[in-house]
Amino acid sequence: MKISCPPAGTRRRTAAPVHRALRHPLATALLVVLSAADSAYADSPIRPLTPAPTAFQQECATCHMAFPPGLLPAASWQRLMGQLGKHFGTDASVDAATRDTLTRWLVANGGTSKRGREEPPQDRITRASWFGRKHHEVSPATWSRPAIKSPANCAACHPKAEEGDFDEHAIRIPR
Ligand code: HEC
Ligand code: HEC
Repeated sequence: MKISCPPAGTRRRTAAPVHRALRHPLATALLVVLSAADSAYADSPIRPLTPAPTAFQQECATCHMAFPPGLLPAASWQRLMGQLGKHFGTDASVDAATRDTLTRWLVANGGTSKRGREEPPQDRITRASWFGRKHHEVSPATWSRPAIKSPANCAACHPKAEEGDFDEHAIRIPR
């Protein structure tokens, strides 16, 4: 939270109510809750509740990394899994039993956080509004570097992306 310092002349008058509010025990409790919720939301890894079926690595990590299910809501996974034959210009279809196993797991572990609940256009993580906000500093030229190729290639810059860890301190942008 940023509390800016008002110009010297006005300082005493404006600062007093803030301090009084902060001294109130309820206000302090609220601040603690708010900042805890904020850091859990921003920093906690998006780990699935149950381990991935082996088919997830085999079927969903050959053309791109295995996206942690918490990055998209259940409805998006349901749609993606219902049209694997026409998957972003490729055929990613699997047999019916494998599809059902994977769909159940993805849906059960779909995103529930503020970010993860968003249903982005085309069910692309990279089209989610938070994705745009968080990556506005990355230029088009950077996205298309040979070592990156696509915004969907999370692991190029987030080394632990498959584990759902996007900690901003671990980011390395390849040249
Ligand atoms: C035959 C290759 C192939 C397979 C297999 C495959 N995909 Fe994809 N997938 C793609 C391509 C190509 C894209 C678009 C990537 C891009 O825009 O850079 C994509 C994109 C995605 C995206 C959106 C990424 C974004 O832009 O945010 C999701 C989610 C996704 N795939 C999930 C899956 C799941 C789940 C499976 C396993 C059932 C799977 N994929 C298997 C080729 C594949
Ligand atoms: C070209 C490198 C690059 C790629 C590829 C990339 N990111 Fe990022 N990511 C960044 C940068 C840079 C930031 C901004 C860090 C900051 O705010 O200081 C960021 C921030 C984030 C954050 C916020 C981290 C935080 O602590 O607030 C998340 C979550 C995230 N990325 C997820 C993803 C996902 C999911 C993908 C793939 C679908 C992806 N990123 C692809 C570079 C990348």
